[in-house]
Amino acid sequence: MADLKGKVAVITGAASGIGLAGVETFIAAGAKVIAGDIQDEKGRALETRFGKDKLRFVHCDVTNMDELKAIMDAAPAAFGSLDIVWNNAGHGGTPTSVEELDLDGFDATINLLLKQVFAGTKFAIPHMKAKGGSIINTSSISAVSAGYAPITYSVAKKGVAHFSKLAAAELSKYKIRVNAILPGFIATSIFGASLGLPREVADQMAEMLAQAGGKMQPIGRVGRGADIAEMAAFLASDAAGFITGGEFLVDGGMTVGPRHSWDETAASPVLESLGISPEQAEQMRLAQQAAAKG
Ligand code: NAI
Repeated sequence: MADLKGKVAVITGAASGIGLAGVETFIAAGAKVIAGDIQDEKGRALETRFGKDKLRFVHCDVTNMDELKAIMDAAPAAFGSLDIVWNNAGHGGTPTSVEELDLDGFDATINLLLKQVFAGTKFAIPHMKAKGGSIINTSSISAVSAGYAPITYSVAKKGVAHFSKLAAAELSKYKIRVNAILPGFIATSIFGASLGLPREVADQMAEMLAQAGGKMQPIGRVGRGADIAEMAAFLASDAAGFITGGEFLVDGGMTVGPRHSWDETAASPVLESLGISPEQAEQMRLAQQAAAKG
């Protein structure tokens, strides 16, 4: 486990899913946490669970620049410093194609997913520039290729990854490290919430996904918030002192290649185009093997 003793972290989107796992992991690693979210009831329950000496909840809508600045200011006010920022809050974004895109939806998605990362970083700098720090931004595998999320969401997440690299270069003079994590399929409420379902239903759906989603990546199990939080805790720690400007895939291998490259039961598109089924391909392979043995 990473060592975060003596460090103070701000985590946004901290009431659920990946952010909540971040709160649990960071506190277990010895950090104090300012947890921000728009789900106030869940956020306040975190104060009761961990105690106000370890965690403070601050209502923070990351699209509200005053609230975003205030949560960065809350860290030194409550716990004496700001050493780690995890810009993590998010939503699935507007689910439309370019052709049908509602331009207000585009602006809203970019504001929520990209502008907050830019602004969250900007508001953290005054608190970090004297002694350095670690900024972690949640991107996504949708930054890598099509097919994982709506187009505006994916564009924003690509922006998050690239912004992290550029900010890492710029902020190196202050010893502020900036890295992006690209999660794969993680069983959280985001899928239900992005379909417009009430949070309680979205929360139940997260557990259903956890049960059903194991076959979506080569590693053979579903991703959990803790898988992402462990990477974030490492990046936040002094053990990652030489790591900045990085993009870290944490996806159980989901992006290693097309399904047939890791699932023997899935058809190769080349063989499919020749009308050869996976069973026939296997028979041909065995026949070739037998011929080679003589
Ligand atoms: P989640 O829905 O469980 O948690 C997201 C949290 O962000 C919620 O607590 C929500 O209340 C909060 N939030 C939403 N809008 C907000 C706003 N305007 N201001 C402050 N808080 C706000 O979802 P999850 O999966 O934990 O998402 C966390 C991050 O991970 C997001 O940025 C998401 O895009 C990203 N991600 C998730 C993946 C997945 O498969 N679950 C894959 C790749 C990226």
